[in-house]
Amino acid sequence: LLGAVSALAISLTATQAFAQCDDGEMVIKFSHVVAASGHPKGDAATMLAERVNEEMNGKACMEVFPNSTLYDDDKVMEALLLGDVQLAAPSLSKFEAYTKKYRLFDLPFLFSSLDAVTTFTTSDAGKELLKVIEPNGYTGLGYWSSGLKQFSANKPLLVPSDADGLKFRVQTSDVAVAMIEAMGASAQKLAFKEVYGALQTGVVDGQENTWSNIYTQKFFEVQDGTTETNHQLLAYLLVTSTEWLNGLDADMRDQFLSIVDEVTMAANAQVAEKEAANRQNIIDAGFEVRTLTPEQRAEWVSVMKPVWEKFEADIGKDLIEAAVASNG
Ligand code: LMR
Repeated sequence: LLGAVSALAISLTATQAFAQCDDGEMVIKFSHVVAASGHPKGDAATMLAERVNEEMNGKACMEVFPNSTLYDDDKVMEALLLGDVQLAAPSLSKFEAYTKKYRLFDLPFLFSSLDAVTTFTTSDAGKELLKVIEPNGYTGLGYWSSGLKQFSANKPLLVPSDADGLKFRVQTSDVAVAMIEAMGASAQKLAFKEVYGALQTGVVDGQENTWSNIYTQKFFEVQDGTTETNHQLLAYLLVTSTEWLNGLDADMRDQFLSIVDEVTMAANAQVAEKEAANRQNIIDAGFEVRTLTPEQRAEWVSVMKPVWEKFEADIGKDLIEAAVASNG
């Protein structure tokens, strides 16, 4: 009986997820790993779904699955090709299996602000980079910014040598591994959904992420403060399967793509504000946010700078220069 009850519960959950889709509407499933709201990506996904569901009502219906409830970022790339989902937005750090060019975005202290990121991603060089995953069957629909990353650990971090001997969780990015090793620490690649538990149980000592992820995943609760290093960008590629996109009829595709472009612009314009709010939320919750003196910051920059050289051949010198030029 218990088995039957849980099977019923599962089928009800599955049905509820599609409750708002009418017969004949094409279902567009968007799977992501972050909080459903109060987060740049969670909110952008909701905004996209609201626009599609209102403006394409009767033709298309979008359902969003947040918080790794459907897939983690590795699995979602396969699910796109299998047609199990139609949209995902993994971080650019997670595309190592498809291209080494996106290592650009992980270079420490590359972008001085989120405005510089937008300048680069909307430039010809940035737009061209969207196409590098096409040979793998994917179409990049746009870059969604999420913020600059901050460090935290189970002890205060003010200069890189404070991290000596500690183990940090990183995304599946070799640039991140090199950066952590340059600090004299060690890196462990872990899926996003495993980070809180790994920090809590001491599998890792520290992590690096945006204010929005640190706040919405509650990482700050199991760390000794967060240090405002702004050392690396977190940004996503909104990605779909080329086969799926090409299979849409032209009118539908044009309408969908113009909604995507407008939402991308609107969402990116709100990132800085959401990041500042989540930084403040951590402070309001009574947890420490440490700021760096210019001298301390200079130490982080100089320890991490050699990482650039290591990946220059993969990325291309011209591309690095184009990104640096976006800082103005
Ligand atoms: C991470 O794994 O830390 C991030 O890529 C999660 C996310 O999607 O913001």
